[in-house]
Formats: sequence, C-alpha cells, structure tokens
Amino acid sequence: MRPWVLAAQAAGASVRWADFDPATGELPPGAVEAVVRERTRLVAVTAASNLIGTRPDIPAIADVAHAAGALLWVDGVHATAHVLTDVPASGADFWVCSPYKFLGPHHGVLAAAPSLLETLHPDKLLPSSDAVPERFELGTLPYELLAGTTAAVDFLADLALTDPSLPRRERLVTSFAALEEHEDSLLATLEARLRAIPGLTAYSNAKRRTPTLLVTVEGRDPQELRAALAERGVNAPAGHFYAWECSHHLGLGATGGLRMGLAPYTDAEDVDRLATGLEEICGIDR
Ligand SMILES: Cc1ncc(COP(=O)(O)O)c(C=O)c1O
Repeated sequence: MRPWVLAAQAAGASVRWADFDPATGELPPGAVEAVVRERTRLVAVTAASNLIGTRPDIPAIADVAHAAGALLWVDGVHATAHVLTDVPASGADFWVCSPYKFLGPHHGVLAAAPSLLETLHPDKLLPSSDAVPERFELGTLPYELLAGTTAAVDFLADLALTDPSLPRRERLVTSFAALEEHEDSLLATLEARLRAIPGLTAYSNAKRRTPTLLVTVEGRDPQELRAALAERGVNAPAGHFYAWECSHHLGLGATGGLRMGLAPYTDAEDVDRLATGLEEICGIDR
C-alpha cells in the first residue's frame, strides 16, 4: 500500500481507503464502490492477503473500477502461488507477482496489455529502447532469473503429471486444480484442530482464501509460539509480514500473529506435526 500512498503524494492525488471487515476478513466489492469517485484514476487491490489469506472478488472489483473509468492494479504476489492466475478473466489492467513465491527466483513480474503499457512512460536512459516492454527494463536483462521463472512455471505445469504433450497452459490448469485440492484439504484438517484450541483466535475467516492462517493465542506472545514450534521442527513465522495496515486493522498492531502457510510440498505429516505442536504448547492432551 505504502508505495501508492507515496506516489499519490508525489502526484498530488488523494488516496481513499476501502477497509475489509476485521470480523469476517472480507473485502466486499461494495466497500470499494463506496470510495470510488468519478475522478478515481486507479484502484489498487490485492488478489490475496498474505496475512489472512482473503481473496477478494477481483472481477467484481474490476467492474467497479472500470465503471468509474479507472484502471485496476492487482497485487497478485500472494495469490499467484496458490490459485490459477488468469489475468484477462480477472479484469485486472495490471497484475504483478513475484516468482520467488511460486518456487522461482527473485524478480518482479508485471503483466498488462501492450496497448496500455504504450501509454506509460517510466524514467529511462536516453539510448535504451523505448519499445514496449523493453521500456520498463533497467538495462541488461536478468537472463538467469527469466530462465529460472520459466523453469518454475514448467515445474508447476507438470505437478499433476498430465500428458506432457498438452499445451503448458492446459497442464497448468490441471496442476493448479490438483494443488488447490491438496492445499484446501490440508487446510481443512489443520483448521479443525486449531479452532478447537481454547484461547485461540483465528483471523483468517473469509469464504475464499489461500491456505494462510493467522492466529493468536490468549496470553501468548506470537514469537514465543513461533520459537516453541521451531523446536518441534515446524517453521511457522510470527509478525505482521509487512501487512502493516492489515495487522493494525485487525487490532494486532506491529506484533501481528502466528502465521501458518501451506505449500505444494506440505503433507499430512507436516500438518499433524504443526497441530500437535500447537496443542502441546497450549497444554492440550490428545
Ligand atoms: C501480497 C504481497 N504483496 C507484495 C509483496 C512484496 O513482494 P516482494 O517481496 O517481491 O517485494 C509480498 C511479499 O510477501 C506480498 O505477500
């Protein structure tokens, strides 16, 4: 969020905020509609919260933005790792993501229609290309990162071991369906056990969300829980995860909570170790 606030200050534009409901974790499109005006130029929203997993209805928010004549920027960094990305179907004008979130290397990705990119003029060197998309690159391309990203997408496309002769997009669709099923089923198991722990509050309550669970336990510092889980071979970090506004809106301030995230390589044994660990730490005998 902060880069938009700073950019707006620099441009003399005003920023209006659409708040999610802290009780449900939902960001209804109506909340965005309530702050969009005739003069709104850009709506920026996340496809999934990296703190509580909420996946807002992006196509509906795109309709709201476009009805006002604004463009829609979607932060797909957290979502792209967990759900199949379909930029045209999402209605997003810009979709950004970070391949390191989906098993690739560290660099930034921005997807937008070339005709839209033609209208944007970033700072650049005089002799460097003004063509789209080269206009947006800083100099020599990071070839090893580009190759690594392609390899990560290829790897994901083959997760479900479909017919390798099918087009990559088709294999990705099948793989992500399998991935979502895998992560959702582990999440259901994990949630059922965690929600039975007395004193535990779960903040990940939206209907549609990634397998990302934020919790606090009454009287326990999230960092203490993290350390105790680490001793049991579980890596569940604690904090606000840079989701500063979100953490504050939940009433968790700079402390945040304990965040558990599932990935393609997480299995039932990992989930059991995590749930059992937290039960033990919270003094529950099974
Ligand atoms: C939703 C979301 N947006 C943005 C970022 C920042 O991405 P990067 O680390 O590539 O700068 C993250 C990283 O965790 C994220 O989860």
